[in-house]
Amino acid sequence: MLYIGVDLGTSAVKLLLMDEKGEIKNIVSKEYELLFPHPGWSEQRPQDWVSAVKEGIKELVKDADKSQVAGIGAGGQMHGLVVLDKDDNVLRPAILWNDGRTQGETDYLNNEIGKDKLTEYTGNIAFAGFTAPKILWMKNNEPELFDKIAKIMLPKDYINYVLTGVHCTDYSDASGMLLLDVKNKKWSKEMLDICSIIEEQMPKLFESYEVVGTLKKDVADELGLSENVKVCAGAGDNAAAAIGTATVGAGACNISLGTSGTIFISSDKFSVDDGNSLHAFDHADGKFHLMGCMLSAASCNKWWMEEILKTEDFAGEQAPISDDKLGHNHVYYLPYLMGERAPHNDPYARSCFLGMTMDSSRADMTQAVLEGVAFGMRDSLEAAKAMGIKVEKSMICGGGAKSPLWRKIFANVMNIELTIPETEQGPGYGGAILAAVGCGEYASVDEAVKKLIKVTGSTKPEPELAALYEERYQTYRKLYPALKGLFTEMKG
Ligand code: XUL
Repeated sequence: MLYIGVDLGTSAVKLLLMDEKGEIKNIVSKEYELLFPHPGWSEQRPQDWVSAVKEGIKELVKDADKSQVAGIGAGGQMHGLVVLDKDDNVLRPAILWNDGRTQGETDYLNNEIGKDKLTEYTGNIAFAGFTAPKILWMKNNEPELFDKIAKIMLPKDYINYVLTGVHCTDYSDASGMLLLDVKNKKWSKEMLDICSIIEEQMPKLFESYEVVGTLKKDVADELGLSENVKVCAGAGDNAAAAIGTATVGAGACNISLGTSGTIFISSDKFSVDDGNSLHAFDHADGKFHLMGCMLSAASCNKWWMEEILKTEDFAGEQAPISDDKLGHNHVYYLPYLMGERAPHNDPYARSCFLGMTMDSSRADMTQAVLEGVAFGMRDSLEAAKAMGIKVEKSMICGGGAKSPLWRKIFANVMNIELTIPETEQGPGYGGAILAAVGCGEYASVDEAVKKLIKVTGSTKPEPELAALYEERYQTYRKLYPALKGLFTEMKG
């Protein structure tokens, strides 16, 4: 049988076709527009996702035996607010995970409702990108639209809704709304009240691998697929990537180096870190995870290459960064192009280069960008270590992980071994695996990943280089506290 995995990302949707043995038969990618209507805001049109997914699926299965397509599973960008009216019209562009407009609402939740109460209700505190502050923002700023909301959902849930007509979500993605009692896997009545919404507006909750429905007739006809194709609930993109890299079971870790950067630590038990800088969410295997999220990771390098250096030759720009340069760069870079989530929870934090001298070169600055992202990720690793969690190795996936240089920098800054999966299609592969489990091809997610995920190699830290980076990290971690006051001053 064949399974379609959908990775509904921020710059594009990536779709893959997988057979029951885990072999990828085809990959298709379709880009869509990202809108920045104000500095710090980030939106997308849900209709653009639907067109891209439909066109993508048609292209994906063009030469395949369509009667063999059994299931579809999506991993989607998390936290985005999609709102529909009673006639299923999209009320406004989706407000995305990296949107920083809700600082007022986030402060209200964290300071007036209080972090203790939020943690009691959901296991998490408020971050500007989470969904609940966005709902409050709509209530405060677009009251007429807010009154028309009939259905609330997350990005990949809108795709599933269009495909099946079922208003649903899964626990891993719902965790990032700040509306779910993550530990007990139910909507938090208290949080719904705080946001002036009711359970009828919320999607029905499923495990990621559960089947929510089958293709609607008109959609099946349009895609040339059978009405019997099953759609599983899917997962947030990080949980889906974790499935796609076999990051299941206690202590397993995955680093995703995409537009955002995340460190994802799988766990059998629900736990919360003291500083609340890590997210305590449900996992797509039915258990739990902790996650640190950087809002700008590979996007820092993309911005530096494409917007500033005006080049697409990423490898060429990295070529002069020889081994002897690693650990000796005087230039530092703070990766806060869209503010920062973990660990600072500060939408006003901004990127900057520091430490340049007359002999600093273009390559030093490129190196600083790669290093700054690794240092930012190390901050989240430190939060996990403070909880007594030992991470000795991790999988690594996402576009940024393709660069051997960046992997080497990451392995040494984090001082852990990084394993590379055979397929780097993390969220899409995870989505297809979830669909295969939902269709009964495998008895559990655990069984599926044990059988399907293979690795191609690993990058190990080198003690001397790790020691040099340790010293530099200790300097790096003093930079944000020193600049924080200025970032706040600059926000106007
Ligand atoms: C995770 C997060 C990002 C998005 C990116 O909390 O906000 O990783 O899911 O798509």
